Amino acid sequence: MLIIKNIKSINSKINSLKRSGRSIGFVPTMGALHEGHLSIMRRARRQNDIVVVSVFVNPKQFGLNEDFARYPRQEKKDHLLAKKEKVDIIFYPSIEEIYPTRYLTYINVEGISRILCGHDRPVHFKGVTTIVGKLLNLVRPDNLYLGQKDAQQVIVLRKMIVDLNFPVKVRVCPIVREPDGLALSSRNKYLTNQQRLESPVLFQALKKAKIKALKENVSVKGVLNLMKSNITKNSSGSIDYIACVDADSLVPLDVIKGRVMIALAVKFGKTRLIDNIVFRKDDGKKK
Ligand code: PAJ
Repeated sequence: MLIIKNIKSINSKINSLKRSGRSIGFVPTMGALHEGHLSIMRRARRQNDIVVVSVFVNPKQFGLNEDFARYPRQEKKDHLLAKKEKVDIIFYPSIEEIYPTRYLTYINVEGISRILCGHDRPVHFKGVTTIVGKLLNLVRPDNLYLGQKDAQQVIVLRKMIVDLNFPVKVRVCPIVREPDGLALSSRNKYLTNQQRLESPVLFQALKKAKIKALKENVSVKGVLNLMKSNITKNSSGSIDYIACVDADSLVPLDVIKGRVMIALAVKFGKTRLIDNIVFRKDDGKKK
């Protein structure tokens, strides 16, 4: 496995891979790799000649009062884990390499970057689109692998890719969970023992909401209220948002119909956890 730390080297390596006609699968990460990241790497490994993983804790997607400084970093362990998954190249740039002094250029997907998670984290998606845009220019992959765990991130990045004509296919991988249902996340490390014990309530609430939503004549409000009482009665979590939206556009639903996503962000102390569930509800009429 090749570890590349600067832009000059990644450019020349990708140039020679492109010349030899090999397909490239790309998995962007912020490191602190866990089974969620590794399952994505495995899928990329199956579908491409070359797998490139980036590890970069991107300062521009963290707000001023967020956890950039304490975000977990484990360089050596990450390299070993990626090597075990037969990753070909780890791109591990420094902040100065990516954002040199007087860096001025940003990518911003309007509208959908400011709702749901973007409401509580106003600079977050602008940071995500800027870094992923830059990484796509550097790695020039055929396939970009993203996790459904960050559902809004997938939708915002898909829009950027369509609007800016990046020649890449987006492959979305399912959410990997702990046995008790908590979605794996690098941030789970911040939870106290008590918060960790309470945290499966999020997926339980999502599953109950789905069961209710699939019944006839149920209102969006009814489903969201059920979730709210589920979470607040059974945990110390404080709800940032719970939303029932169209799974492709993020538009809030008035009626539960089509490809539905219920998404949430809940804070346990300072730790903000997100999760979602996607399902189809047809209106029963013959098409
Ligand atoms: P990070 O949180 O490290 O996640 C990297 C990728 O792993 C993302 O596509 C994310 O959705 C996926 N992932 C995380 N937890 C997962 C889980 N439990 N199951 C399945 N996939 C999971 O997301 C980012 O980094 C950054 O925003 C990034 C795209 C790298 C830009 O900086």
